[in-house]
Amino acid sequence: MATLPREEELTTRARAAQARAYAPYSQFHVGAALLCADGTIVDGCNVENASYPAGTCAERVALGAAVVAGHRQFVAVAIATDAPEGTPPCGICRQALAEFAPTLAVVAIAKDGRRVRWTLDSLLPFPFTPSSLET
Ligand code: THU
Repeated sequence: MATLPREEELTTRARAAQARAYAPYSQFHVGAALLCADGTIVDGCNVENASYPAGTCAERVALGAAVVAGHRQFVAVAIATDAPEGTPPCGICRQALAEFAPTLAVVAIAKDGRRVRWTLDSLLPFPFTPSSLET
């Protein structure tokens, strides 16, 4: 897949957000940077909890922060980790992102800086959508 819009900036922002991750339990630090349609970039990091299921992924932290700031249209998301290969968003995050941007461009940045790219619809071809609720 081709380079994403503003990929360098998104990569820098995701890596900086990763440094703010709160992941004392997994030690898996994740940073996300979400590019909104108006050009704003909103950051997220994973925020874990002593009650493990209460923790939240970086992508959904970014999504929630973006929505509360008034954004509902998204172009791309970058995800930075220290994994040897770029890691795609988890299933819950795929579903959460698909609510707003089913064809979102996704780039994952590995520890050594190598990048892998997908479109969200390739990662989640059959999301449950708002229209799925129609009776
Ligand atoms: N995590 C993310 O932040 N994003 C993902 O897409 C996958 C997993 C977090 C959740 C948890 O804090 C840690 O990584 C280990 O699963």
